[in-house]
Amino acid sequence: MSAEEDVREGLSAKQKHLPAYLFYDERGGQLFTQITTLPEYYLTRAEREIFTTQQDEIAELLTADAKQLSVLELGAGSAEKSQILLKALAKRCALTFYPVDVDSAALQVCCTNLAQQPSLRVSPMVMQNQEALSVFQRVSGPKAIFFIGSSIGNLSDDEARSLLQSVRASLGSGGFLLLGADQTKDIQTLLRAYDDAQGVTAQFNLNILSHINQRFGANFDLSRFAHRAIWNESARAIEMHLVSQQTQQVDLTTLGFSIRLQAGETIHTESCAKYDERRITHLLSSAGLTRHATLQDTKKQFAVYLARA
Ligand code: TRP
Repeated sequence: MSAEEDVREGLSAKQKHLPAYLFYDERGGQLFTQITTLPEYYLTRAEREIFTTQQDEIAELLTADAKQLSVLELGAGSAEKSQILLKALAKRCALTFYPVDVDSAALQVCCTNLAQQPSLRVSPMVMQNQEALSVFQRVSGPKAIFFIGSSIGNLSDDEARSLLQSVRASLGSGGFLLLGADQTKDIQTLLRAYDDAQGVTAQFNLNILSHINQRFGANFDLSRFAHRAIWNESARAIEMHLVSQQTQQVDLTTLGFSIRLQAGETIHTESCAKYDERRITHLLSSAGLTRHATLQDTKKQFAVYLARA
């Protein structure tokens, strides 16, 4: 579906929703980078801690005695965290890195960051995940796929299963998936991570409306919406919503339609699912993958799973 169709379909639904990729215009990208440095947003720091302190174990597991390795990273961006692992891997074998992202500017930064590394070749792929996975399927030799940052949690369980099935097909037998997933924990800690004191996550969430205003000639008034993060117990996920502060009408001129919102009605913009061993094992096995190792930070807030095809 096109972005136009996604917006029209989402805003016409009973529970209104918007596709999360619309967060990411230029300002959205900047705000997201800021989120990853917030005191309440422990995810990025915890995953980086795992990569930094356990890079040798991870590299050992991924290379065994292979002389070469091909690594594909989904949604790599500038590969700021994964470069820790890539450098450790490149010490052990000849490494080819395929960073995948739709944002070509971020991939440029990635290539620049990794340019001076001996025994590391970078082959950027500006495309969607699915397309990249089918290209990577034809690469021969030992392979690994990185899917980090708990991005898995932003997919529904069905979407997650189908992505992991494509990962499994792309890896062939014997390849490794390195999966970063945020862990279930006390709800207050989770809520604070998505509703920080400085209000950066609120600005990030609201920015989806100004992006839609610009892109589709809409007239969302941002002062009439409030950011809300809630815990959905049955989905075991944090949900981000935009709450209409009053009864209002919004016109989406380019799309040729208008919507009405009641006071208190919400637009669901993102879900961030949280995992325990059981949920991950189940998800992996439904895609033909087996959990091989689990690595955690000292506070056990986040986990990096190594799974095998
Ligand atoms: N995948 C990360 C998470 O679930 C990052 C992320 C995606 C995020 N969408 C977000 C963080 C929206 C804050 C708000 O946390």
